[in-house]
Amino acid sequence: MRKLVAVLGICLAVSASLVVAEIDLSDFDDDVMRTMDDTNKFLEPDITAKNVKNATEGVEILRQGLKWTEEYFVHKGNTDDAVKLAQEGQQHITAILASMSANDFDKAAASARDLTKNCRACHDLYKPLTK
Ligand code: HEC
Repeated sequence: MRKLVAVLGICLAVSASLVVAEIDLSDFDDDVMRTMDDTNKFLEPDITAKNVKNATEGVEILRQGLKWTEEYFVHKGNTDDAVKLAQEGQQHITAILASMSANDFDKAAASARDLTKNCRACHDLYKPLTK
């Protein structure tokens, strides 16, 4: 009997920790993400076409979106990985702008691909599977 109680206790503890890991995203602004998605699709093609004007505009939209995302997760708390990933995304953006200024469009395009990987890394950790 004591053993059964212990097992039940462990089960409860495990399920409780799973619930805690699931963060409440009801106040998350999906529009920010959709805008970033629409923008990100054109970023690498714009860079490859050396369209600095459009790429720079896109990068600024993405920077604002990631800044919003960073602040969202800072206030949410207990989501250090998300905060870090949002910051890393902004670093890729800084790298894109620097490479474009140096006329190194290959390097800028590589950073744009890193940025897309960064989006996915956060989604793998924090985006609910139902979305
Ligand atoms: C730090 C974490 C994080 C980063 C970085 C991030 N996202 Fe998201 N994204 C989320 C979360 C969390 C959701 C799910 C929101 C929800 O369920 O309400 C989401 C949802 C989305 C969605 C689905 C929105 C919908 O209509 O339901 C798209 C599209 C999206 N993100 C695009 C992007 C793009 C593009 C980038 C990179 C430029 C990016 N995200 C970077 C956390 C992130």
